[in-house]
Amino acid sequence: MHHFISTRELSFASIYRILETAQALQTKQTRTIQHGWFAANLFFEPSTRTKTSFQVAERKLGMDALDFHMESSSVAKGESLYDTARTYEAIGADLLVVRHASDHWYDELAGISIPIINAGAGKGEHPTQAILDLLTIYQEFGSFNDLTVVIAGDIKHSRVARSNAYALLTLGANVFFAATPGFEDYSFDVPYISMDEAVEMCDVLMMLRVQHERHKSTYQTKSYLHDYGLTMERERKMQDHAIVLHPAPVNRGVEIDTRLVECKRSRIFRQMENGVYARMAILLSLLNGKDAVYENFTKERQ
Ligand code: CP
Repeated sequence: MHHFISTRELSFASIYRILETAQALQTKQTRTIQHGWFAANLFFEPSTRTKTSFQVAERKLGMDALDFHMESSSVAKGESLYDTARTYEAIGADLLVVRHASDHWYDELAGISIPIINAGAGKGEHPTQAILDLLTIYQEFGSFNDLTVVIAGDIKHSRVARSNAYALLTLGANVFFAATPGFEDYSFDVPYISMDEAVEMCDVLMMLRVQHERHKSTYQTKSYLHDYGLTMERERKMQDHAIVLHPAPVNRGVEIDTRLVECKRSRIFRQMENGVYARMAILLSLLNGKDAVYENFTKERQ
């Protein structure tokens, strides 16, 4: 694996190797790589969780995290994504972590030789978020086979939904979507169910944020929680063992009742913690030039 762009490209075995590496890193069964690697975090869209957890992951691995602020960079003078990436490569970055509003920004970076990690591509994909979501599910259930996962909310505008759906289908989960009319994405062979059906049958309820910034017109959310969201009443109908995920940031009181954000079933802050280890495992899988292998962590830089 040279780049980490889409979960569609990941096999069953490679996803498990990343999850097991992340798990080993979290329980401190591994050593870190050598110092001297430079990671450039090129965020052209806002981020709190992904950017910060990449910075922590890089530093925990002994790497130097090169910062980039769009407003104070030469992007403000009109420099393109390609020229920015090519500049970081020329100056000495060993890998690029990129978030951009375009659904397919990575097509523009075909001429870049160093590894590239997709940290969010418009409405396209968010594969590192999917890995941390999978890690959270794996820690809870130990397997994906026949697990019922419902992805609920603004599917159409969600890169998180797409990356998770590809990976969960590869892993053998029973995947369902629940969405309000207009928020569906029929490019997947995934059945749609109502939120009332979803809460009763799921093992994992993956809630999505209403992605206001990607809507063409203003979406009114006044009755959204009652009609399509996770209310207290719906939460009470979930199976005892069922858990709730959300990639965050959360629109409290829109897709989820604010009292449920930190309820017993919620793994939302666990997801954020897992993001550091998931991203460490992804970084290692690229720097080692192959899928993550624990024994290879101390590989010297060539
Ligand atoms: N979940 C997620 O991608 O959060 P940020 O936008 O804060 O990185």
